[in-house]
Parts: sequence; C-alpha cells; structure tokens
Amino acid sequence: MEKKIMRIGIMGTLRGGCYLDIFKKMDGAVVTCVCDFNLRSLKNVEHLLDDSIKVFDNFDDFITSGLMDAVMLCNYFAEHAPFAIKAMEQGIHVLSECTPAITMAECVQLCRTVEKTGCKYMLAENYPFFACNMDMKRRYDSGKMGRALFCEGEYNHPADAYTINMLGPGRLHWRNWCPSTYYLTHSMAPILYITGNELKAVNCKNVFAPEVKKGTAVTVGDLVAVMLCEMKDGSLARIVGCSGWGGHGNWYRICSENGQMENIRGTLDQVRVQYNGWQVPEGENEIAIHSVKWFDDEKMNSLATNAGHGGGDYWAAYYFTKYVNEDVEPFFNVYRAVSMSAAAILALRSSLNSGVEYKIPDFRNEEERKVWENDNDSPFPDENGNATMPCCSHPDFKPSEEDYAAAERDWREAGLITD
Ligand SMILES: NC(=O)c1ccc[n+]([C@@H]2O[C@H](COP(=O)([O-])OP(=O)(O)OC[C@H]3O[C@@H](n4cnc5c(N)ncnc54)[C@H](O)[C@@H]3O)[C@@H](O)[C@H]2O)c1
Repeated sequence: MEKKIMRIGIMGTLRGGCYLDIFKKMDGAVVTCVCDFNLRSLKNVEHLLDDSIKVFDNFDDFITSGLMDAVMLCNYFAEHAPFAIKAMEQGIHVLSECTPAITMAECVQLCRTVEKTGCKYMLAENYPFFACNMDMKRRYDSGKMGRALFCEGEYNHPADAYTINMLGPGRLHWRNWCPSTYYLTHSMAPILYITGNELKAVNCKNVFAPEVKKGTAVTVGDLVAVMLCEMKDGSLARIVGCSGWGGHGNWYRICSENGQMENIRGTLDQVRVQYNGWQVPEGENEIAIHSVKWFDDEKMNSLATNAGHGGGDYWAAYYFTKYVNEDVEPFFNVYRAVSMSAAAILALRSSLNSGVEYKIPDFRNEEERKVWENDNDSPFPDENGNATMPCCSHPDFKPSEEDYAAAERDWREAGLITD
C-alpha cells in the first residue's frame, strides 16, 4: 500500500517556527506552506523556508490554496476557533495550539463543525508528553496504583516586566488580557491524560497581586488561579492555570488508592513513586525515584530529544500525523479539548462569583451543548478595547498611563510596533 504523506501548512510563524522545523523532519509529513501577516515573524523562520514552501500573508488565500491536507494553527491565542472552523469548512484537518476556544459558544461550534465536516481536529497540548508524564501514564495504566482520588497540576511561569512586554506587544495583545484560568491546558491536560478522567465541574478562586509584576508590565489579570475540578468518577484535581508566583516550574501529582506518584520538582525526567507499605506490587519498591524516558526504545527517544518543551512538541506533531495518515484517534480530540476550554471559562466566572461551582457540559451531547450555543461572553478586548466580561477578579484595575508609555517605548525600540 502506498505510504500516506500529510501536506501541512503552518499559520503563525513565531510559535509556528518550532512546528515548522519538527514537521519538516517528521516521517509522513511535508510542509507545503506557511502564513503570517507580520514580516518580522516571518523572518523568524526564514532559515527554515525553501522553494518548496509557499509563503502567504493572508489566511483566506492560504487556506484555499489547495496546498494542504492539514493546518497547524499557531496564530493568536484568542482566535483559534474561528480559523479552525474556516479550515474544516474547506475540508482541512486542524492541529490547534492552545487554547481551543475562548467562549462557550465557540466550544459548541467546534464540536458541531468536526461532526458536520468529518475533519480531524486535535489540540497541540504538549505538556502531557513530557517524559515524566508519559511514564506516569504507563504506571497508571498498569493498574498497580489503583484509581486516582486526588491529583494536582501546576504550571508556574513568572517573568520579568520586560520579557512580559516583549511577548505581548500592544495594549490589546492577548497576553496582556489572558486570565490565569484560560491558560490552563499545561497544568490540567497532563492530569486528564495520565488518569483518563473527564471533567464534571469546576470552581475557582484567584490571587490578585499586580505588584509582583514589577516595572512596566501592562498585563491585566490575576497572578494565580486555583481551580478545584471534580471528575466524572467523583475524584478531585487541584489545577493552577498559568500562574506567576516566584520560581518557575511544572509539577504533577497523582494520589491513588494504593500509592502516589509525582515528578520531582524542577525535573521533567524523574518520577517519585510511593506505595502503601502493605500494598507494594511485586517487582516494585515501597518508595523509589526513577529516571524516566519517553519510551523504552532509544530510536523513539532520540526523535524527541531536541524538540522544545521537554520533547512534548515532537509528540504532539507525531500523534497528529498518525491521526491524519493512519486514523489513530488522539487523546486530545475535540471533545476533551473543548472541555478544558469550558473549564477555563467557567472557572473565571466562578472566581468572579464568590467561587460558585459550574457544571462542565458533556460536549458529545447536543442537548447539553444547546444550553451554551449563544454564550459569547469573552474577557478578551475587541479592536476597540471592549470586552464582554472582566478578565480578572479586580475588574476596575488598569495599568497606569505611565506604564503604558514605558511599555510602548520598549515595543518601539524592539521594533515590535511602529507608529
Ligand atoms: N504549547 C506551548 O508550549 C506554546 C508555547 C508558546 C506559544 N503557544 C501558543 O502559540 C500561539 C501563538 O503564540 P506566539 O507565542 O507565537 O505569539 P503571538 O500570538 O504573538 O503570535 C502569533 C503569530 O501569528 C500571526 N498571526 C496572527 N493572526 C494572523 C492572521 N490572521 N493572519 C496571518 N498571521 C497571523 C502573528 O503575526 C504572529 O506572528 C498562542 O496560542 C500560544 O498560546 C504555545
């Protein structure tokens, strides 16, 4: 049988540069085109382009070019769903950067579009594919730990004011308005992946601490979001969204009937496993720290070694290629993807509403979807600076005009904005 080769286009060439590099080397994929309307972003990938890759500056021309079977969306965080829907309506499969959707209505529309078009949709959530998380998944699937009762997922990413400004050039750039809960997939997805659990309900409280982002950062938002998620099987998970207390790191912990496991703080390739003394499975120790790899197979491991985000970027691209070419259903299909967006949206509402609990709809169920199909509230400002709901627990907070002026100086000096 002839081997299938997926033709893929990359939309957005900042983050997209990593995936351009990975897909160029991926067995079973060929990059045929890229799209970005910012020349500066395109410069970022200049060294990866050649005559076989067509460059577009307009999404409509790009998506109707006939050059691709699939598109990877690395455009702005708050605009993935409309572009994913447009692509699938052209019969093009979608690999979307996080987050899948920013409103409940978009969550519903994404599911309906996948069902209507028959296109394949996968979320490019990469943190579940750290070596530690893949190892914990294998251990969990072996059944030795028993059922998870309580889990924890942390993604903490503090940054200095200048770095924050360089990542969010422009008063209305999504990074300056992103609620901590909305960037939750890096802390939540590994827990769902390891345990296979599905979300049922969420509540949340935030920590507002603008003084921590010292200097001229012009972000509006809470620094920490603590979400308590109930899973369909009654277990709980504490998830922190994307938070910013001192000390960068990722940490995942699974507490189960017979024991618990977690990555050692500060590492992505060491897992501590502990069983109850009276329930140590044959061949295991009561307490052990394991150095772990993605797979037992060295050839597989070497493929991910040089990829970004602890190798996770490689596996996201790998599983999507397998999905398109071989029909292997990925874990982060549209339903799991939008359930995380719904948790993000409803967690923010919970935090604005004294921590009240919200039920997360079952997005396979049309009756449950109908309830949310017209819910378009979003905390991200439109081009006129207007949002339909607050993005943080202190709705009246605004950076000062002095801070904006200083940030604008930084953006201009770095060539990120022009007058
Ligand atoms: N999974 C991860 O580890 C990870 C890491 C970094 C970024 N991301 C995600 O990647 C996405 C992009 O983030 P980023 O860091 O590249 O910064 P960004 O959002 O500032 O850049 C987006 C790029 O897309 C281009 N773009 C946007 N809309 C366009 C349009 N309509 N037509 C043509 N080009 C368009 C912009 O010019 C820019 O170059 C975000 O969703 C972010 O969350 C994920």
